[in-house]
Amino acid sequence: MLDQLQRLPADPILGLAAMARADTRAAKVDLTVGIYMDETGVCPVFDAVREAQAMLATDEITKAYLPPAGVDAFNSGMQKLLLGAEHPALLGARVSSVQAPGGCGALRIGAEIIHAATPGATVWVSDPTWPVHLPLLGSVGLQFSNYRYYDPATHGVNFQGMVEDLKSAGAGDVVLLHGCCHNPCGADLSLAQWAVVADMAEAQGFLPFIDIAYQGLGDGLDEDAAGLRLLAERLPELIVAASCSKNMGLYRERTGAAMFVCRDQENAEALVSQALVAARRIYSMPPAHGALIAGKILSDSKLDRTWRVELMEMCARINGLRSDLRTKLEAASGRDFAFIEKEKGMFSFLGLSAEQASRLREDYAVYMLDSSRINVAGVNAGNIDYLAESVAAVL
Ligand code: LMR
Repeated sequence: MLDQLQRLPADPILGLAAMARADTRAAKVDLTVGIYMDETGVCPVFDAVREAQAMLATDEITKAYLPPAGVDAFNSGMQKLLLGAEHPALLGARVSSVQAPGGCGALRIGAEIIHAATPGATVWVSDPTWPVHLPLLGSVGLQFSNYRYYDPATHGVNFQGMVEDLKSAGAGDVVLLHGCCHNPCGADLSLAQWAVVADMAEAQGFLPFIDIAYQGLGDGLDEDAAGLRLLAERLPELIVAASCSKNMGLYRERTGAAMFVCRDQENAEALVSQALVAARRIYSMPPAHGALIAGKILSDSKLDRTWRVELMEMCARINGLRSDLRTKLEAASGRDFAFIEKEKGMFSFLGLSAEQASRLREDYAVYMLDSSRINVAGVNAGNIDYLAESVAAVL
């Protein structure tokens, strides 16, 4: 039975990351997978995480299962982090959430809820979107339509195209939006554009599903959630998939949250019961370690302050790298790379062809995705000149 199964191609992101890991050339630059790396090329553990972890190691008295909805302090902390403690939807008690195994688990729970409400619903996804959205949501049975989003000619959002396409999204449809730091293009909606999306959702009745995996890595924790908060204020319903992988550096701890903004408290509670049944079907209950850490940080004012400062420094460093990279690329190539400085978060497209990306890999040991998506947070003072010269050489 099993011998009929063929070997599948490697994942377009993780496969390239594995290739980069295996490359022993000294000049190697790995800009594949979206993890933050410091000046020394290490993905660091936050001080706040170390401290919370040390407390846990002393205080933890059991490894019994978590309740299926996860850690209470994590769930309430994440709701406040995403919406702001005084958000009318929170004060109106129409918000609920469950802990999930990473942002992926949260997306999957969101997809299960959507499928339960409208089997086979159409999810509108940005062109392009994170490639994993498709198998993650599609394997539940949801269908997809694309809306125009990134315009390679302007290196910005084609908002007019987006609005035209989303005019066809109606009640029963879902529109998947990147809350901030769009993956893969780094081009985000302005707050005025979020307001237009809110108008359209209100008038047409589609359900926004917001994937926010990079809160705090664009402009700041509150700024990056402004679009989400606006939608949650204006609309009766939305689903949010959030992750602590990047903004707390808890990647391997699989720490995420699926949050539901509902018409009323009764519906918010009903959705938790739906999420728990869906989770029981897939993984029963979420892992504890990451959410215990995040819950501790979010509920302890001292740890929370330490974490916010560290995150702000990380965000400032990424934005500094964006500006340095622009300068170096422009100097090396004589072309305009101003867009890199305008984009947000970890990712930008360099605007290279797949063939150029592959030459960079083979001839220069510079690894990026075939789409020319780079992880800006993989750049440092030691590799930036080599990177800029290598890119200029293949242009
Ligand atoms: C990425 O896009 O590189 C990250 O979100 C990591 C992943 O799982 O793909």
